[in-house]
Amino acid sequence: MKKLGLCIGEPSTREVEFVGSTGVKLGDYVELFYEGRKVLGFISDVRRVSRNIPSDLEPEDLEKVKRIVGNDSYFVGKITILGDPDSRMFIPRIPPAPGTEVFLASRETLKKVFGEDDGTKVHVGHLLTREDVNVYISIDSIVSRHLAVLAVTGGGKSNTVSVILEGLLEKDGTILVFDMHGEYVNFDFQRNGKPAVKSIPLTLNPIRLSYHEFRLFANVDDSAYIQDRFLRRVFKETVEAIQNGEIYPSKFWEELQGKLEELESNEDYRDDRKSITAVRNKVQDMQDFYGDLFALDQSPIVEQIEFGKLNVIDLSHVDEKVADIIVSHVLRNVLEARKKNVREGSGGLEYPLFMVLEEAHILASSTINTRSRYWISRIAREGRKFGLGLCLVTQRPKALDSNALSQANNMIILKLVEPGDQRHVQQASEALSSELVQQLPSLNVGEALLMGQMIPVPALVKIKKARAKKGGTDISAVKSWREFREKRKELVKKRLKDIEDLDSLE
Ligand SMILES: Nc1ncnc2c1ncn2[C@@H]1O[C@H](COP(=O)(O)OP(=O)(O)OP(=O)(O)O)[C@@H](O)[C@H]1O
Ligand SMILES: [Mg+2]
Repeated sequence: MKKLGLCIGEPSTREVEFVGSTGVKLGDYVELFYEGRKVLGFISDVRRVSRNIPSDLEPEDLEKVKRIVGNDSYFVGKITILGDPDSRMFIPRIPPAPGTEVFLASRETLKKVFGEDDGTKVHVGHLLTREDVNVYISIDSIVSRHLAVLAVTGGGKSNTVSVILEGLLEKDGTILVFDMHGEYVNFDFQRNGKPAVKSIPLTLNPIRLSYHEFRLFANVDDSAYIQDRFLRRVFKETVEAIQNGEIYPSKFWEELQGKLEELESNEDYRDDRKSITAVRNKVQDMQDFYGDLFALDQSPIVEQIEFGKLNVIDLSHVDEKVADIIVSHVLRNVLEARKKNVREGSGGLEYPLFMVLEEAHILASSTINTRSRYWISRIAREGRKFGLGLCLVTQRPKALDSNALSQANNMIILKLVEPGDQRHVQQASEALSSELVQQLPSLNVGEALLMGQMIPVPALVKIKKARAKKGGTDISAVKSWREFREKRKELVKKRLKDIEDLDSLE
């Protein structure tokens, strides 16, 4: 066992200072023996100090002293106590005494802590400081207690999500991705050697929308209460008529417009005529503008979700407003379908679902009151009881609704530079110490801090590369320009040759 140093100062049950001579790495794990237990710790802060080089020397004097004393530095560090791996990370109530020896944690201890796949876990990578220790996360925990994946642009969020999704698919996991950039549809995800992506067509049946969702499409503001009243009335009457079998579903728009026309010419509503006309125009605009999005024979999106697949709704071609309505519509229906199944024991959605929301800060914004924010919060709160897991992915944590973020019990934080983002994340999670926050800007692509219930103790992890990932790399402008130049040169050469050939014929 490799000895790193000794505890010094005034250790507490949670934190210990120590000094060491070599091999002290930030984020590494240590073992201490006290109170009859083996206790695991995490090096959360390291500084290097010199015995003989005072910090207040002039540069020339410093050079001289250095020549004489050589490299005489040693390490001073802080250890966060994590607990006894043999007793479910129990933390002794008595702190280690100063002078207690600090050892580098053995591979066996770390393997015991970070475990192996017992059939309920996903392998995500290895410890940043120990390539030989694999790290697994608990699937049940991320599905029941949600997951936030946070990093600057290009930090490795989508790769991390892909690694997790691959692991879930291997275990019959059923996933629904709201794909804001159309990247997941093109990934080559496999399950049992077969393609696992099911692309759900982006068409909605207006009859299945809630009035609230319908009103958003129609652009009727809730402050326009007269318009709201008439639209609500004709929408409800039309949907009821269809449900009662009085008219065919295909007659939805005609019926709706017909009812509005009737109201418009009804003398009883003479005073409201302007508002009714406005509603009629808005419904017409809605049909003109979003025509492609609506299909009166479309089955509900929830019924199109396939078991054991990566179900993807491609939202890359719609604007943020439409994405908001669609996401909220789907989340609402998924929650209802799961509730029905759990309460009644059959029907509805018959299995748990893990849902990925990229650009979560747009859908659940901290400043704009979107429809999807409401449903994301509800699922974040209630999902646990119904087996609905959310994976919130964002490059702007600061702009993400703090309510939704704090419900995410599990976090994967890759490189995060902006102090505002760091503060926001720290506020949402008590487990994130300021020492750990300080590490976030210096992480490289694919290096992440994992914490929460999904993992026994917080860990800095090198995430593995997803197998399924296709594309996603930045376009090299220089390479593309050069290629285009070559292509054009070839074209000109060919033309010249054609002209020469023609000349020789004449
Ligand atoms: N763990 C990793 N190992 C190796 N390469 C990685 C890793 N994670 C990410 N990369 C590479 O870094 C690039 C950016 O990764 P990714 O697309 O996952 O980032 P992102 O955070 O989702 O970016 P964006 O904010 O643009 O969505 C990709 O080319 C990817 O292949
Ligand atoms: Mg991404």
